[in-house]
Amino acid sequence: MIDDLPAGLTARHPVEEDHARVLGVLDAWWGGLKGQAGALERALLLPRLYFQHFTTTGFLVEGDGGEVAAFLVGFLSQTEPDAAYVHFVGVDPRLRGQGIGRVLYRAFFALAGSHGRRYVHCVTSPQNTASRGFHTRLGFTESAVKADYDGPGLDRVAFTLDLSASPLSRG
Ligand SMILES: CC(C)(COP(=O)(O)OP(=O)(O)OC[C@H]1O[C@@H](n2cnc3c(N)ncnc32)[C@H](O)[C@@H]1OP(=O)(O)O)[C@@H](O)C(=O)NCCC(=O)NCCS
Repeated sequence: MIDDLPAGLTARHPVEEDHARVLGVLDAWWGGLKGQAGALERALLLPRLYFQHFTTTGFLVEGDGGEVAAFLVGFLSQTEPDAAYVHFVGVDPRLRGQGIGRVLYRAFFALAGSHGRRYVHCVTSPQNTASRGFHTRLGFTESAVKADYDGPGLDRVAFTLDLSASPLSRG
């Protein structure tokens, strides 16, 4: 499915049974960002439905022992026929900086492109400097901070990438 992951890692589409496994890594992988409120926010951002109804456009990466190593939850926009959306992505902190995040995005771009999608969107918290650096490095355009974007106190920055202009969408 994805053949350019580092040795020992394999990818597949997630299934419903993966929901609890992914929830179980969020706090450690996000480094406790925004404390207790952040933990609740993250759990609520990843309800089971993503592992029921959005599985064919997501990826789960596992290590040799079957442990969760990385994941990407994304989907094709139902509203915008030229858009796809990355909802959540994470890489085990011990495996960061090896290109795994980029590989997952490249695979998602290929999938989105094969469905005729040109734009990829996502959002992140302004405090998430790692996410902002990563998305900018991949070529996403970052918006100004959007206050209360996801509800009171839930500010976001939005990212957009035009696949037709991205080297990452070309093989
Ligand atoms: C963001 C995240 C997915 C990046 O995963 P990763 O596998 O370490 O990223 P990669 O190794 O593929 O890096 C790809 C590029 O982004 C850059 N990048 C990665 N993390 C970065 C950071 N913290 N700050 C700045 N740039 C960063 C890399 O330097 C690399 O660029 P280059 O090799 O072209 O110079 C990972 O840090 C993570 O899981 N963070 C916690 C969860 C999170 O915040 N998810 C995003 C919001 S949903």
